[in-house]
Amino acid sequence: MERFVIEGGKALRGEAAVSGAKNACLPIMAASLLIRDVTVIGNVPDLRDVRTMARVLENLGARVKLHDACLEIDTAGVSRWVAPYELVKTMRASYYVLAPLVATMGRARVSLPGGCAIGPRPIDIHIRGLEALNADVLVEHGYVEVKASSLRGNRVNLGGPKGSSVGATIQVMTAAVLAEGTTTIENSALEPEVVDVAGFLNRMGARVSGVGSSRIVVEGVASLRPARYDIIPDRIETGTLAAAAAITRGDVTLTGCNPSHLTAVLSILQGSGFQVDAGPDRIEIAPGEDHQPFQVRVSPYPGFPTDMQAQMVALACTIPGISAMTETIFENRFIYASELMRMGADIRIDQNTAFVTGGSPLTGAQVMASDLRASAALVLAALVAKGETEVSRIYHLDRGYEGLEVKLGRLGAKVRRC
Ligand code: EPZ
Repeated sequence: MERFVIEGGKALRGEAAVSGAKNACLPIMAASLLIRDVTVIGNVPDLRDVRTMARVLENLGARVKLHDACLEIDTAGVSRWVAPYELVKTMRASYYVLAPLVATMGRARVSLPGGCAIGPRPIDIHIRGLEALNADVLVEHGYVEVKASSLRGNRVNLGGPKGSSVGATIQVMTAAVLAEGTTTIENSALEPEVVDVAGFLNRMGARVSGVGSSRIVVEGVASLRPARYDIIPDRIETGTLAAAAAITRGDVTLTGCNPSHLTAVLSILQGSGFQVDAGPDRIEIAPGEDHQPFQVRVSPYPGFPTDMQAQMVALACTIPGISAMTETIFENRFIYASELMRMGADIRIDQNTAFVTGGSPLTGAQVMASDLRASAALVLAALVAKGETEVSRIYHLDRGYEGLEVKLGRLGAKVRRC
């Protein structure tokens, strides 16, 4: 199993280019199943999850080619409607094929994703939304099976116990595109990835409006056309690299990014004393001075993203004083804290808040990654820890960060993949 060996203590300097957004790319790949033709997607990150989604599509009969950040998906040969356990268990986003398959073939069968390190992740809101569009949904033998002779537009409220759901919004919006009549989605998620999927659907000829607000309206159309579409920059990779610059007190410029998608994170960095200069598609982070601890409460977009909390906890370890990070979306998302504590971090978890007393030096240790963003936090801590850190199970990182060791290496970090 591959691991990173990181020698800490180098301040990062230079420029790094941000890749395309994983969480927009995966549902857009699935939405290519809405036609039986060729879709071309640009700015695609070369990630393990993207390759897994390609296998899910190939398993259904599609032909997929990835070259130079460009994906060509030919769905002409799609004849199957089942996504099996062997593929879905490695990536829950496989469930995005449900909507386009049921919209075009009248049925879809996808393995239930199963356990997840960051907490329970039910799909009841997806099911409720599809049922509202006239689909029959059966959960049996570990699979969710959706059937509909024809999908029909409806008013759907996708509010859940933790607010809106990114995945359910994308699922229902995608299903509604070819449904008869109009669908109004209340309590839709506002995340930029939802907006990007809608941009792709509209490029195919769909009629989706209201994205970026809590009410999306989809007027069903009879057919769609092939499209070429570029994915937005990955806001969580951007935030992670910004936090890497900050934790090493380095001076880094991030290019090809969209700072307006990251306002909540950048304002915490600024408020904490780091110097952040943002242009339309670049961000420069410099050390600034007199760093202050921070209090953050995770919330859906445009609030502070849950996918950035672990990285910011790592950063808090280097700032004297007590910082507090409250997680509100995924309850088990502090598993990494005990690994950081093995590196000398002083973290106390009280219910859903991590209190971090920062300022004592971190020291290199052998640590184990438990999920994607947790792995990023461990890598960040290792960049400033004294001596060598070994981060094992980095396959989690490869799911969502394209060539992280290469990007960090170019900025002067000492990271080896072993
Ligand atoms: C997406 O997950 C992202 N994944 C996650 O990124 C991200 O953390 C999350 O949105 C929140 O921003 C992808 O886009 C592939 P949700 P998703 O549905 O869609 C509850 C990463 O590191 N809920 O918005 O699964 C749910 O349990 C990952 O890249 C239900 O109760 O998130 C959670 O508490 C990890 N029932 C909350 O809603 C449902 O049917 C929000 O989840 C669906 C969700």
